[in-house]
Amino acid sequence: MRLPLTMYLVIFVSASVVFYQYHLSKAWMISHNNSQFRDLSAGPIEKGTNYTYYASKNISQAVPCTDFSLSNPQLPPLYIITPTYRRPEQLAELTRLAHTLMLTPNIHWLVIEDAEQKTELVTDLLQRTGLSYDHLLAPMPEIYKKKKKGPKPRGVSNRNKGLAWIRKYAKDGVFYFADDDNTYDLQLFREIRYTKQVSMFPVGLITKLGVSSPIVRNGKFMGFYDGWMAGRKFPVDMAGFAVSVNFLLERPKAEMPFKPGFEEDGFLKSLVPFEPYEIELLAENCTKIWVWHTQAKRNDPSQPLDFAKYNNTNLVLLKHILV
Ligand code: UGA
Ligand code: MN
Repeated sequence: MRLPLTMYLVIFVSASVVFYQYHLSKAWMISHNNSQFRDLSAGPIEKGTNYTYYASKNISQAVPCTDFSLSNPQLPPLYIITPTYRRPEQLAELTRLAHTLMLTPNIHWLVIEDAEQKTELVTDLLQRTGLSYDHLLAPMPEIYKKKKKGPKPRGVSNRNKGLAWIRKYAKDGVFYFADDDNTYDLQLFREIRYTKQVSMFPVGLITKLGVSSPIVRNGKFMGFYDGWMAGRKFPVDMAGFAVSVNFLLERPKAEMPFKPGFEEDGFLKSLVPFEPYEIELLAENCTKIWVWHTQAKRNDPSQPLDFAKYNNTNLVLLKHILV
């Protein structure tokens, strides 16, 4: 009688262990599969609803977050306007930005060079990305280029060219001025895509304050936090706002002034009628930083190559890539 009882006990314990392990491995498989197959471009999903509430416009804005796959044509188009110019860091910066955009669905990239002619290496880079893009030219007008003293209006002719393109070809969606040297979180593009008029959000690494952002209290816009107020109505950085295409189309005169330091303010003021209380607040009521004003260290142009000495070597080809 004693033997079978022990046997029953052994069978029971072993069965329990096997059963427990099966559950453990199943749980691991589920979580493992989730992380493996999770769509990289998927936004946060709130349980029990098809919408995630990103705080916004002094009224809450519902952002549909069901279809973020890279090939989803139903997403509103997002136009990214990027000024760029020839300098040692140009290809490195554009490579980094291109790779960010390659992870973002339904975008059209307007790469606008401050140059008289297209840079072949930029054309080549754009082609290799497989992105939908236009490569345009908009040289800085001579009067500003020749300026000896003070800052120049960097990227302004480029951005105005981008606005002209939007007016001509875009019908809906949203546009965003993305300088070539910033760092962008993919979450930024998920959120700005649903901008109804003008949305704003924090930009990290700006001035000594370390951030430029709308000030929000209890979900309400209270003013701006920026290290350089300068009497501006909209003291924000170029990377700190996005605008709906229709909102622009309804304002045929809106453009960016050639006024160093006042480009953002001038452009946002030209979107009249538009007042700060109407700003749609993104990035979870401006509590997150989805874009950074990185600024690469400036590099001197590479030193001349001794072509006689290095004739017929790879260095000759590399030198053509470098500035
Ligand atoms: C800051 C802001 O973030 C810019 O958006 C603003 O245009 C600039 O100040 C300004 O007010 O002048 P910052 O980092 O100082 O930016 O400027 P850059 O990154 O040097 O230039 C802004 C954009 O214009 C970049 O995409 C750059 O490639 C382009 N750029 C710059 C030109 O196309 N031509 C130039 O001669 C210089
Ligand atoms: Mn910059």
